[in-house]
Amino acid sequence: MSNGKNGLTKWTQYPNIVRLMKLHEKPINTISDVWDIYREDFKRVEAQIIEDLDSEVSLINDVGYHLLKGGGKRFRPLLMILCSRLCNYHGADDIILASVVEFIHIATLLHDDVVDEADVRRGQPAARSIWGNQASILVGDYVYSKALYKAVTLRNQEVNEILSTTTKKMSEGELLQLSKTADTNITEEEYLKIIDSKTATLIAATCRLAGVISDAAEEAKNSLTRIGWNIGMAFQLADDTLDYTATKERLGKTLGKDLSEGKITLPLLHLLKNCSNDEQPLIHRIIKEGDIKNEDLEFIQALFKKYNSINYSLTKAKGYIKTAKQELSDYEDSTAKQALIAVANYAITRDL
Ligand code: IPE
Ligand code: IPE
Ligand code: MG
Ligand code: MG
Repeated sequence: MSNGKNGLTKWTQYPNIVRLMKLHEKPINTISDVWDIYREDFKRVEAQIIEDLDSEVSLINDVGYHLLKGGGKRFRPLLMILCSRLCNYHGADDIILASVVEFIHIATLLHDDVVDEADVRRGQPAARSIWGNQASILVGDYVYSKALYKAVTLRNQEVNEILSTTTKKMSEGELLQLSKTADTNITEEEYLKIIDSKTATLIAATCRLAGVISDAAEEAKNSLTRIGWNIGMAFQLADDTLDYTATKERLGKTLGKDLSEGKITLPLLHLLKNCSNDEQPLIHRIIKEGDIKNEDLEFIQALFKKYNSINYSLTKAKGYIKTAKQELSDYEDSTAKQALIAVANYAITRDL
């Protein structure tokens, strides 16, 4: 190895290292760094979503426009684009599938808000508060069908299989969750099964689809699935803590909603397992009651502090992110890899 005066010349013999140094010139630390780098791709995704939403039925356009206006993180399209770049994909199907996975997500939100009787979504009135439950369900059905229709136009059987098994599993997750409403005997294993089905499955499928359109090897597709699944588990665990810790303005959803729905998520499950015998019946009463008052929520939040229940859930979420990043560490360094690491970190540090 030559010893150049500035210590750089020696590295020029090793193009790979020079490339790595270049990559690190502009560090990718935050989600906004990622948005900056992939701005052009996201513009195309947004245009695709708007195009796909268009319908002759004005009610569909109205509800669709309302949802888009509210923002949304576009977390699934983001992963679609990044995993496609990780696989060096340069076709156009990633944009179509980014819109498809966002549509499946939007459909579940429209239905979820009816099931959960939610009034606020994406910082504005939930569609059901403006147009009613029937319209929310029917537009959800439309958006969901449109997603599958768009996917079918790609004429890729593997894509269709992934999307149909994913949506089937998501419905099972929602139903499993419903059957466990206010069930204080729910186990951590059952809770994890619910969030696996309702949330992690779609995020895992999103990452796998990027591998499918890139003609990646089976092992690479499995690896992408693991990355997405772990990020997805952490993403829902974070959502379930934010339901108690965020601010309504930032989150764009009502706080304490899970408690009032009798939805026992990990912080509450942890509390039920660790609280004292005196506290146990009080918590049970609040869960069964349904109509949660401010003081009930504050009481539960104080107990979370006492028993470290939020930290317990976030530590669990961090564990999934650690696994996702370990999996990512096997990939050669690239902008997409660094962006995925930033997105993985964001899944558990986000406040909305
Ligand atoms: C909300 O999803 C439902 C969960 C799976 C937690 P997001 O948090 O991705 O919702 P938007 O798309 O940003 O509104
Ligand atoms: C997410 O669960 C369910 C979906 C996958 C639609 P939540 O019920 O926790 O989602 P939010 O909190 O209403 O967004
Ligand atoms: Mg909900
Ligand atoms: Mg939630």
